[in-house]
Amino acid sequence: MIDSGHLDRLGRPVTLRPVDDDNWRAVADVAPRDDQRRFVAALGARYLLVSTRSEVWTSLAVYADETVVGHVMWGVDDDGSHWIGGMLIDAAEQNRGVGRATVRTLAAWLGAKDGKPPVRLSYHPDNLPAAALYTSLGFHPTGAMDDEELIAEQAS
Ligand SMILES: CC(C)(COP(=O)(O)OP(=O)(O)OC[C@H]1O[C@@H](n2cnc3c(N)ncnc32)[C@H](O)[C@@H]1OP(=O)(O)O)[C@@H](O)C(=O)NCCC(=O)NCCS
Repeated sequence: MIDSGHLDRLGRPVTLRPVDDDNWRAVADVAPRDDQRRFVAALGARYLLVSTRSEVWTSLAVYADETVVGHVMWGVDDDGSHWIGGMLIDAAEQNRGVGRATVRTLAAWLGAKDGKPPVRLSYHPDNLPAAALYTSLGFHPTGAMDDEELIAEQAS
């Protein structure tokens, strides 16, 4: 479990846990709002398949208290940079501070790994809530793009 002590706005502890035999169905069912599907996968299931099929990504279940409320994954690029991806908070759980707590928790955990690697992520420039969230946590565009997405790195 990754627990940095962050709470959401309802006072629930937000923790990141391995996907296992007990929680994978709940993670697979995590779904964004319909209008957010242009930016992300329609279900957490898609990201679970990505991390199962790739050697790069590892999925984590996002918990608020003991409830699965989202999916996030992390990976390591060839250049040693550590990445956050597959950030998805269930539509019914958005705007409660879970996304902020999740990114803070995972970015701190990745950035503390050996060698203090740079922590990066990417987002579509039209995804204004994501852009606002990441910018407020110190992620700034590097100028590079990944397909249509801006690559951003957290200032150390
Ligand atoms: C983006 C997302 C992860 C944010 O998660 P969340 O739990 O709803 O966010 P939080 O409640 O922690 O809010 C964090 C910040 O996000 C931004 N934000 C969230 N919803 C927003 C909205 N509707 N409009 C503008 N900004 C918004 C704000 O900057 C907010 O800051 P605050 O804490 O000062 O209010 C969530 O909306 C989501 O899962 N969206 C669909 C998937 C997606 O776009 N993922 C990112 C792909 S790069």
